[in-house]
Amino acid sequence: GARPAGGLLRFSPIAPVPADVDAVTVPEGYSWSPIIRWGDPILPGGVAFDALAQTPEKQALQFGYNNDYLDIIVNGAKGLSGLLVANHEYVNPAIMFPPTVDTVTAKKIAKAAHGMSVVGLKRSTYGTPWTYDPAGRKNRRITADTPFTLTGPAAGCELLRTTADPAGRTVLGTFGNCSGGTTPWGTVLSGEENFNGYFRTTGVSAAEKRYGLKDAPSTYGWEEIDPRFDARSSGDVHEPNRFGWIVEIDPEDPTATPLKHTAMGRFKHEGANVTLSGGRPVAYMGDDERFDYLYKFVSARSMRTGTAKADREYNRTLLTEGDLYVARFSGDSPVAEIDGTGKLPSDGAFDGTGTWIALTRGGKSAVPGFTVQEVLVNTRLAADTVGATKMDRCEDVQPHRSIAGRVYVACTNNTDRGKAGKEGATEVAPRLANRDGHIVEINEDKGNACGTTFTWNLLLVCGDPATNDSTYFAGYPKDKVSPISCPDNVAFDASGNLWISTDGAPSTIGYNDGLFKVGLSGRERGRVQQFLAVPTGAETCGPVVHERDGRGMAYVAVQHPGEDGTWDAQLSRFPDYVPVGQAAKPGQFAGPRPSVIQVW
Ligand code: FEO
Ligand code: CA
Ligand code: CA
Ligand code: CA
Repeated sequence: GARPAGGLLRFSPIAPVPADVDAVTVPEGYSWSPIIRWGDPILPGGVAFDALAQTPEKQALQFGYNNDYLDIIVNGAKGLSGLLVANHEYVNPAIMFPPTVDTVTAKKIAKAAHGMSVVGLKRSTYGTPWTYDPAGRKNRRITADTPFTLTGPAAGCELLRTTADPAGRTVLGTFGNCSGGTTPWGTVLSGEENFNGYFRTTGVSAAEKRYGLKDAPSTYGWEEIDPRFDARSSGDVHEPNRFGWIVEIDPEDPTATPLKHTAMGRFKHEGANVTLSGGRPVAYMGDDERFDYLYKFVSARSMRTGTAKADREYNRTLLTEGDLYVARFSGDSPVAEIDGTGKLPSDGAFDGTGTWIALTRGGKSAVPGFTVQEVLVNTRLAADTVGATKMDRCEDVQPHRSIAGRVYVACTNNTDRGKAGKEGATEVAPRLANRDGHIVEINEDKGNACGTTFTWNLLLVCGDPATNDSTYFAGYPKDKVSPISCPDNVAFDASGNLWISTDGAPSTIGYNDGLFKVGLSGRERGRVQQFLAVPTGAETCGPVVHERDGRGMAYVAVQHPGEDGTWDAQLSRFPDYVPVGQAAKPGQFAGPRPSVIQVW
């Protein structure tokens, strides 16, 4: 049915929130509450969180740390039950444990706090807040030790074999899981992003260098508790090759072994979002590193629309076979007009055409000098040889909900653009030292996501328009928008508005990160309005916006609140705001707990 212009989540935008404010800020008339917090028990035998008595065993039965990707999958016509699926990207040990916890225990807790969670949800009526079900039948934790099956053309190849897994087909764990996407067949994809920081390697090969793998102590020191993270020994040199994939889990089937899809390539995967084009799944994917690339994967086969178990199992194979492409963007304005300041060229737009360059075709390599296994395991090296366009850190990439072939790419920032020895401004990345990021809008030719040509334009060139002339809001009056910086996750509501969550605004425009709505059509196009702000130090992740029965609800994952604090000097007390004097009691905690929150 028709929805009012602007969608069902009506609000007056909030004012930007100064970066030291330790509060969730929502529009007038809205309320918020946590659905689930780091440490809340979700599996049988799980116990209530007690920061002073945390153990690895307890953590493995509890919701993990630093929730990033989020979906709220609503069941049934009444929408009174559902599933929450979240990634736990990384940890902030300095604010999680008392300094008295021994280092081995602390590392094991950190390892168990990584991965993903599936949690049952319940509510009494639509529009009232959810509560999570600690005994949900589908509740699940996936950690850095959960077995995964490798699929696709590189599964079993030499580059993926280790002493512990000579067949090269079974990997333990997932970590660095950043964003993701729920597929049309109901599974959840998750991107393994900064996997390199978890390993100590020899650091000498071209591939190791290209992926940032070094001979230096890893970020969390897991090589001290689990030898496979020390990839200098002969049996484990390939262990880092088993991370950096798109993983797929089936939240409806807690017994299904999660998958790692080699056909979709290996890089610092931000996430993957699937659209159907003529029934065929097409996944858009960003490599979140300065000057790295935008990719897409086109499945060889079409989705089955049945809901029988056999259909579900068939659909879980759709991402095992298909063609992998990398994007090349061309601008249509004279190079001299792209001066690096963000000034619009004389045709009035940062825009142009593009092509998808095949890296694999029909299960074979399309890159001279690379086998298909080499293309898939060392995808960055293959893409380097084909003239792919260097982007300003592609984060989330979201196909439009209803317009065929339209896609939005969040390029979060790239402060190195134009530095000595680095590429300068291009029409698709038009600012030197790009601090605030931009959003690319792609239209696949003829709306065909399976095709190889497209047009593109920049929808937003982000920043605070009050202080920054280089901002652009698709022509919308700049004095009537909310300042926005460092777009990261993007999502659609059912009315066709794009929602953008940010990561990094405190250090650029000086405001807490938040969630923003932007219209895409008619007079609303480019109108950015801030819906919420997260507490000090936090990044806004998710987001999810639902509209039904005449009203909207929004959900975000609040990641790394108070991340620059210490155990003794916490900067955030989100979301419980326990009075400081009570924090010494068992079960009370004066520090932050990354949480999924709901706003209604
Ligand atoms: Fe984990 Fe690219 O942000
Ligand atoms: Ca142009
Ligand atoms: Ca991200
Ligand atoms: Ca981020």
